[in-house]
Amino acid sequence: MCGIVGYIGPKSVESVLINGLKKLEYRGYDSAGMAVLDGAELSTRKALGKIAELEKQLKGQPVDGTTGIAHTRWATHGEPSTINAHPHLNNERNIAVVHNGIFENYAKLKAELMDDGYVFVSETDTEVAPHLLEKYIDEGFSLDEAFVRMLKRLEGQYAIACISEKMEKKIYFARKGSPLILARGNNEYLLASDIPAVIPIAHEAIYLEDEQWGYITEQGVSIFNLAGAVVEPQWQSVSLKEEDVDKGDFEYLMLKEIYEQPDVFERIFKERIDDSFIHFPELKFGKEYLARVGRMLIQACGTSLNAGMIGRMYLEQYAHISAETDYSSEWRYRNPLASGDSLVVGISQSGETADTLAGVREAKAKFMRVLSFLNNINSTMARESDAMIHLMAGPEIGVASTKAFTAQVLNLLFFSLYVGSIKWLLPAEERREVLKEILALPEKMRKILKSHEQIKQIAEYLKDKNDTIFLGRTYNYPSALEGALKLKEISYIHASGYAGGEFKHGPLALVSDNVPVVIIAPQGEIRTKMISNLKEAQSRKGTIISIITEGDEEIKKESDYFVEIPPCLESISPLLVAIPLQLLAYYTAIARGCDVDRPRNLAKSVTVE
Ligand code: AGP
Repeated sequence: MCGIVGYIGPKSVESVLINGLKKLEYRGYDSAGMAVLDGAELSTRKALGKIAELEKQLKGQPVDGTTGIAHTRWATHGEPSTINAHPHLNNERNIAVVHNGIFENYAKLKAELMDDGYVFVSETDTEVAPHLLEKYIDEGFSLDEAFVRMLKRLEGQYAIACISEKMEKKIYFARKGSPLILARGNNEYLLASDIPAVIPIAHEAIYLEDEQWGYITEQGVSIFNLAGAVVEPQWQSVSLKEEDVDKGDFEYLMLKEIYEQPDVFERIFKERIDDSFIHFPELKFGKEYLARVGRMLIQACGTSLNAGMIGRMYLEQYAHISAETDYSSEWRYRNPLASGDSLVVGISQSGETADTLAGVREAKAKFMRVLSFLNNINSTMARESDAMIHLMAGPEIGVASTKAFTAQVLNLLFFSLYVGSIKWLLPAEERREVLKEILALPEKMRKILKSHEQIKQIAEYLKDKNDTIFLGRTYNYPSALEGALKLKEISYIHASGYAGGEFKHGPLALVSDNVPVVIIAPQGEIRTKMISNLKEAQSRKGTIISIITEGDEEIKKESDYFVEIPPCLESISPLLVAIPLQLLAYYTAIARGCDVDRPRNLAKSVTVE
């Protein structure tokens, strides 16, 4: 995905656009650029690499003006390069376009336009937009008419912003499949891919819906649908503060978000726990419907599926609901069998992940109901699901998901307990015990966070390794997958997670002298089985890194390194195990000099398939 920002107002547009881009850098950081109207003159600046490179260029070649659009890119069509950086211009260089998404029919449009004599300079799909506009203007259409005609030719997903020397102080926009918001401050208007880019200027925002287009001027916003009907602006107040989305005293956003988890849990408790036990005020499904759900089909991507795999076990244990999980990119092509009592579940931090959204649409096309667990309640998935559960993790900007993951697991646990209580499956004693354990989690998390120096030592060992194996069972098999994902995506060390029982069925061959093996073995039913895994790895001279319950002397003395977590119920141990796994990945990436918040090749939300 990419990040777009636009501004019209009395401030210097260059600084507003740069600040906005910095707040969107998590969406992509291959290249950045901006186009500014100073009166009727269009200026553009582009730079390969992070936004800091664009800032350097602007220091030597500043732009002036009060109307502008800007873009930070995650390359999909055309390698990261200055020529492929947005904005893209028409041949007369008087129209500039920035775009997030994919024009799926760009090859056909590009061939048509080239036949008509329009000259392309980049490898991107986006460049068809300014040339289409120029073509329609050449045919005598106004810019407004040309913009709509262009939209009707484009297939695929887009969030577009466009300025032209033909229309001073006016920014055109359109949205279809990629998020785009409008925002207003004091006599100033913005558009952006996400809310962080418009704070602290804006105090109100509009979340555009698909196939809405329009323009912003100094006077305000005009929104239309593709049939040309006016859409009344629905302004919502912006509650987000700058401190919610910046690093504060932390070196990286990811570390800040790891440390926020105990506070996030306490905030979720306030919203979820009431005198009746647990409740979901935002949940549109009634108790009588939920009591009859026999099967839940969980589909998600990456970390969100790892959370879903833990949630599946909660649903079976606490709600007696048969549940299955699958990667969205697989599930959507599987033609899943859905009986009348099936409920499809989407889990997503962003609510914009293309594969998970496609899974939701697949379910709806098969007349299945969809419940989504989402952190972004203004997302496309929130609008397209039948019901939504809000994760309440607060904005998560770091590309590696941390607080959203534990909030997903916690909300899945609460949901399972809630349905279990509706079906009278949970005796009062069990409800009290599990709730007591959950309420104790924030203090236990804070205690683990204090062992960060010990984890840093382990990272010093891990930083030079090329491979790492993570092993866990039952509730912590997904923890092993999540620990491996965290390590590989920010430190670039190849890491794999396996169910402990699978170790001897092949992965054991990977172990030789000094290969690190992370053994996740908190107290519980399968602890002794994890000791067998430890012995298997040890006998092949692997280096043992254990995550254990405090005071487990037996495993400690067999381990080269260990991290202790406070005692807890085995079923909720993933919520504590996550903390050392996140910190281990973080400190290893730091030790390897990686950019933790902007890992290479990745973006925070994958809004393309
Ligand atoms: C997790 O650290 C990764 N950033 C990635 O796997 C992520 O979980 C996945 O892309 C799903 O994103 P979503 O939760 O926004 O749908």
